[in-house]
Amino acid sequence: MNPKINSWKNKRVWIIGASSGIGAELALQLLVLGARVAVSARNQSALTKLAQPFDAAVVLPLDVTNADQVQAAADQLKQQWQGIDLVCVVAGVYNEMRADTFNLEVANALIDVNLRGVFNCLAATLPTLLEQKNGGIAIVSSVAGLSGLPKALIYGPTKAALINLCESLYIDLHSRGNAVYLINPGFVATSATANNDFAMPALISAEIAAKKIILGFEQGDFHIHFPKRFTNWLRLARLLPYAWYFKLIHKVTGL
Ligand SMILES: NC(=O)c1ccc[n+]([C@@H]2O[C@H](COP(=O)([O-])OP(=O)(O)OC[C@H]3O[C@@H](n4cnc5c(N)ncnc54)[C@H](OP(=O)(O)O)[C@@H]3O)[C@@H](O)[C@H]2O)c1
Repeated sequence: MNPKINSWKNKRVWIIGASSGIGAELALQLLVLGARVAVSARNQSALTKLAQPFDAAVVLPLDVTNADQVQAAADQLKQQWQGIDLVCVVAGVYNEMRADTFNLEVANALIDVNLRGVFNCLAATLPTLLEQKNGGIAIVSSVAGLSGLPKALIYGPTKAALINLCESLYIDLHSRGNAVYLINPGFVATSATANNDFAMPALISAEIAAKKIILGFEQGDFHIHFPKRFTNWLRLARLLPYAWYFKLIHKVTGL
């Protein structure tokens, strides 16, 4: 559904949300494969530590909720690289919330990072991608966005919005030469999931997650989801009539 990527040598990749977890692993693996990688997030020292061994790495600290900071980083990169091949928006925050612990402040904070943060990244990079008529954008959503799940009262809707966003982006960008990748991980062992107090089925490492993402890019997939033994189960569940879907989720999670 997207052009295949046969070589990462000198590919210009901007990873936003690269200071830890999936984004940091993705940056490392792409640098090892020969790509030029710009790494962004708020934690500057983590970014610097990651980038230090690689001449091809660029450190661009920013907060995705600050549109000016994202735009300034995009401008700097455009000047330095004269273009971009792939923008990966990985930045996101997870929160466990149910109806009886609803917290408006937390809900708005999640929307600010997971949704408005992504819009800030789009605003800063879409004009360049459209002007180039090549290069792509990848957005990390989650299988929690596929359908309503327990404990994901606000996280789930922010990720559902990103799935819809990627679908619309694909419709708008594919015919103009730009690639769009929707990335839906299942459970990945990172700081985001470290405090989960429930068994996480098919949990994988950030290293494996990054490998799956790179394979998806190389194959030209639109929907990059993993591990399939878990994500395909959820994709099937969302097709069930609601009465069956809710019974199944209750049976599996006890919630
Ligand atoms: N782990 C999972 O099971 C799982 C499953 C599905 C989807 N995901 C998604 O995968 C993505 C990466 O998560 P992860 O599991 O790797 O967790 P993580 O280790 O906590 O990584 C989150 C990344 O987002 C960055 N970030 C957060 N807020 C930011 C902000 N305001 N501005 C800039 N960067 C910000 C963090 O950097 P700073 O704190 O330095 O800013 C960090 O680099 C998230 O979008 C998450 O929702 C994770």
